[in-house]
Amino acid sequence: MAPSVLITGASGYTGSRLARRLLRDGWIVHVIARPSSNLAPLTDMIDKVRVHYYQGTTESMLRIVGEAKPDIVAHLASFASVTYRSQDIHAMLHSNVIFGADLMEAMMRHKVYNLINTGTFSQHYDHLPYNPNSLYAASKQAFEDIARYYLESSPLRCITLTLFDSYGPKDPRNKIVNLLYNAYVTGEPLATTPGEQLLDMVYIDDVVQAYTLAASRLLRGTAEPHEKYAVSSRNPLTLRRLVALFEEEVGAKLKVVWGAKPYREREIMVPWTEGSLLPDWHPQVDIRTGIKLYLADKGCAP
Ligand SMILES: NC(=O)c1ccc[n+]([C@@H]2O[C@H](COP(=O)([O-])OP(=O)(O)OC[C@H]3O[C@@H](n4cnc5c(N)ncnc54)[C@H](OP(=O)(O)O)[C@@H]3O)[C@@H](O)[C@H]2O)c1
Repeated sequence: MAPSVLITGASGYTGSRLARRLLRDGWIVHVIARPSSNLAPLTDMIDKVRVHYYQGTTESMLRIVGEAKPDIVAHLASFASVTYRSQDIHAMLHSNVIFGADLMEAMMRHKVYNLINTGTFSQHYDHLPYNPNSLYAASKQAFEDIARYYLESSPLRCITLTLFDSYGPKDPRNKIVNLLYNAYVTGEPLATTPGEQLLDMVYIDDVVQAYTLAASRLLRGTAEPHEKYAVSSRNPLTLRRLVALFEEEVGAKLKVVWGAKPYREREIMVPWTEGSLLPDWHPQVDIRTGIKLYLADKGCAP
C-alpha cells in the first residue's frame, strides 16, 4: 500500500513542489486548500491530488483529517512575511496558530501521529534558541508551543524543518532571485539595502528532499518525539555576492541601487547557524548551479 501524506500550504511554492515530488515517488497525496486558494501551482497534477477544503472551522479540519487519514501530515501553510500591515495580523495568526491548532486537534482525534512542521530561521534572531525577528516568526513559534502540548500528551512525533531562503524555477513569490531577474529583463533600477546581509539560499529541490527524508524517518519510526533540523546551505553569501553571481550568469550588469533602502528593523545580518542538519541530507545544488537552473527554466541560455 502506497504511503499517504496530507500537505497544508500545497498551493504555495514549497508545498506544490513537495506535492509533485511525492506523487512522483508513488505517494497518495491529499492537500488542504481554502475556498479562496489559487490552485494554479497544482494545475498539472490536479487530477492526481485529492483536494480537501478547509472552511475556517475546526469541524471542517476534523472532516478533512478523518477522510484523508494520512500516514504523515506535512504542514507548510503560513501567512509567511516578515513585514506586515496592522490589518494582516488576524490572517497571520489564523494561518500560523488557529489553522495549526485545528490541524493538531484533528490529527489527535483521528490518531494521526506523524507531523512534519515548518519553522523559519527568523525564529532565531541573534543566533538565540528563540528570538523572533518579526511577528511572523513569533507566530510560527506559537504553533511550536501548541504542538508541544500535543507532543507531551500523545504518541505524536514531529520533525520541524527550519527553512532559510528557498529559490528555484517557477517561483511565483516576490523574492530576491525573481527581483533580480525582473531587473535584468526590464532594465529597470532595483532599489536595495547596502547589501551586506548574508543570505542562506537553498535550492527548492534540496528543500523538498529534506521533507522526503523527514517523511521516511517518521515512517520508519526512528524519530524522537520532537526533532528539529536546519535546512541550511551552510554557505551563506552576501546580497552583493548574490547579485554579482547573477550578473556573471546573465552576462549583464544590473542597475542595482545599493543603499536606496535601509536595512529592515531586526534585519538578520548573519543567519542562524546553530541548527543540526537532517541525517543524510546535504544540499546538492550550490548557488551558481541554482541560478543556472533558474535561468535555464526561463529559457535564458548561458
Ligand atoms: N520561502 C522561504 O524562503 C521560507 C523561509 C522560512 C520558512 N518558510 C516557511 O515555509 C513554508 C512554505 O513557504 P512558501 O514560501 O513556500 O509559502 P507560500 O508560497 O507563500 O505559500 C503559502 C501557503 O500557505 C497557505 N496559507 C496562507 N494563509 C493561510 C491561512 N490563513 N490558512 C491556511 N493556509 C494559508 C497558502 O494557501 P492559500 O492558497 O489558501 O492562500 C499557501 O498554500 C511556510 O510555512 C513558511 O513559513 C519559508
